[in-house]
Amino acid sequence: MITLKVNGTKRKVDADPGTPLLWVLRESLGFTSVKYTCGISECGMCTVLIDGDARRSCVVNVEEVLESEITTIEGLPENHPVKVAWIEKQVPQCGYCQPGIMLQAADFLSREKNPSEELINEVMDNVICRCGSHPRIKKAILLAARINANQGG
Ligand code: FES
Ligand code: FES
Repeated sequence: MITLKVNGTKRKVDADPGTPLLWVLRESLGFTSVKYTCGISECGMCTVLIDGDARRSCVVNVEEVLESEITTIEGLPENHPVKVAWIEKQVPQCGYCQPGIMLQAADFLSREKNPSEELINEVMDNVICRCGSHPRIKKAILLAARINANQGG
């Protein structure tokens, strides 16, 4: 039995320490917002925050994160600038990719308070949306940065 801290709550899980975090979050804890697609750290669908950093959970074993704070999209506050901007700009189409992309955006904005469009393209183009929502993602990130600035973040 291992213990993980997910979205602020300690959860006990019966899992082999070498299991990818993705499968423990999805299959053992029911966080199906964490999506499986490539399984080799290429697409970004499985992205979660680990101690605030966006990481691809398909290539992180649970034994690496026993002391960490893990955040899925459910753990991002509803008034987080990324969630507010995503709704305002109506970013998702099918929605499959969005939890991972939003968490990548949250990490990005925690480091870049005033990102340029070029930097947004550079950082966000490595998470794949098959519905082509990237133009709206860019607009939402610019809005989220303005909301953040207005909140004094
Ligand atoms: S499923 Fe993890 S990066 Fe694609
Ligand atoms: S909204 Fe459908 S894959 Fe991105």
